[in-house]
Order: sequence, then C-alpha cells, then structure tokens
Amino acid sequence: MSDKFGAGLVVGFLGAVVVAALAGLTIAYTGAYNVAATEEHLSVTRWAFDTTMHSSVKQRAGSVQQAEPVTPVMLARGAGEYKAMCQHCHGGPGAKREKWADGMRPQPPHLAEAAADWKPGEILWIVKHGIKMTGMPAFGPTHDDETLRSIVAFVSELPAMTPERYAALGSDSGSGAAGQQRGANHHGSGGQPGRSGGQQGGSTGPAASGDHHGPGGASQHPPSGNPKQ
Ligand code: HEC
Repeated sequence: MSDKFGAGLVVGFLGAVVVAALAGLTIAYTGAYNVAATEEHLSVTRWAFDTTMHSSVKQRAGSVQQAEPVTPVMLARGAGEYKAMCQHCHGGPGAKREKWADGMRPQPPHLAEAAADWKPGEILWIVKHGIKMTGMPAFGPTHDDETLRSIVAFVSELPAMTPERYAALGSDSGSGAAGQQRGANHHGSGGQPGRSGGQQGGSTGPAASGDHHGPGGASQHPPSGNPKQ
C-alpha cells in the first residue's frame, strides 16, 4: 500500500518536471513571452527577480567594507562621477532621471530614496559588479576602487541630501567641498595631504561629463577577477 503511494509520488513528481520543462521550451521557442520593455513585468517575475537580486547582493557583499571616514574631498569627487555616470538613470534630490530611462524595464530606482535600503558595502558591490538583466552596468572593469568608493560615499548620503546641496556638490560654482577638491592648495582643511588637486587632473565636475577618467582609470580588477568581491 505505502509502496504504491511512494511510486505514485515519484510518477507525479516526474510528470510535473516534464510539464515544467515543456512549458519552458514552449515559451523559449514559440515567442509566447513578450520581451517588450513597453510592458511592465508580471508581478511574479518582478518579485522573483527582486528577491533574487536582494539576496544575491546581500550574500556576496557581506564582507565588503566601504572606506571610512568619508571626507569632503571624497564626496565632491563622488558627486562629479555620479552626475556624469549615474544621474541620467537614477536622478538625484531635485533631479529627475532622463526621459529615455523611463523606457527601461525594470526602471532604474530614484536613488535619493532607494539608497536608504542598502548598506555602503552593498552599494559598492552593486556599482562594481552591476546587476544582470536590468541594465545596471558594472563599473568595476573601468573604474579603480578609489573612484568607486567616492561614488558610494556620495550615494550613501543621497537620502539625507537637500536638492540645494546636491546641486552644489561637485559642481564648479559649488560649495566649499567642491572648492577643496579642486584647490586643495588654497586651504587644506578637510583635504588629505597625500592626495592633492593634481591627481584630480582631468576631473572638472559634471561639465566634463564625457570621458574624463582618462587612461589612468584602468581597472585593477580584470573581468576575470574574484567574483566574491
Ligand atoms: C543605464 C542606466 C543605469 C546607469 C547608467 C546606472 N544604473 Fe544603477 N541601476 C539601473 C537599473 C535598471 C537598476 C536595477 C533596478 C531594479 O532591479 O530594480 C539599477 C540598480 C542600482 C542600484 C540598486 C538599487 C535598488 O534598490 O534596486 C544601485 C545602488 C545603483 N543602481 C547605483 C548606480 C550608480 C552609483 C551608478 C553610477 C555609477 C549607476 N547605478 C548607473 C540602471 C542604471
């Protein structure tokens, strides 16, 4: 009796596996699934994706530490990088993402709010490695760790940042912090002695949006690097 029951279970299980595999193949080959980004994801797809992404990042970023303390120089530098490379997708306090980024699925979240959900080490992991199947690029292959850490320092402060401070940071006409970044010689307060303005050479804030990283931005982390970090 219980043998029959066990055999029934096995047959049922195998049947379910076959049906699932057939359903998968049908979707893959017949074009039944609509990949258009003009449609929202099904809520079940969105849930599966979001949950997988959160668990994956939290598990992998566990041991990643963001540099402390955050200095005004770091913040100003991160602001310039963010405005050149992230704002068009993620917006900022008082700044909307570009219209074309509305057409992405998933849509890039407004980081002025979303950044509050992540620890700095997790943001560093995301920015360095990117997120598959979302359009979130990996910046690790093209940017060194110091640059990435300055971006993370800035992103971590976004939720508490006023639009005025956001507009001023990293801009030429901006706050004292931006001044310190560019003219460490004038008043060294807050600046780091070992990191004078000279090193920032090509970086003149958001105005220099395009490729202002120069050849010096070569990665210390080849794409084949340790996927854990
Ligand atoms: C081409 C558009 C694009 C650019 C450029 C971009 N991102 Fe993203 N980013 C995305 C998308 C899309 C997601 C995934 C959203 C999702 O899965 O909900 C994302 C996710 C994130 C997340 C996780 C937020 C969350 O709660 O889902 C962080 C943090 C982030 N990006 C930071 C950055 C930073 C910092 C930069 C610049 C160095 C950047 N991104 C550049 C599109 C972009």
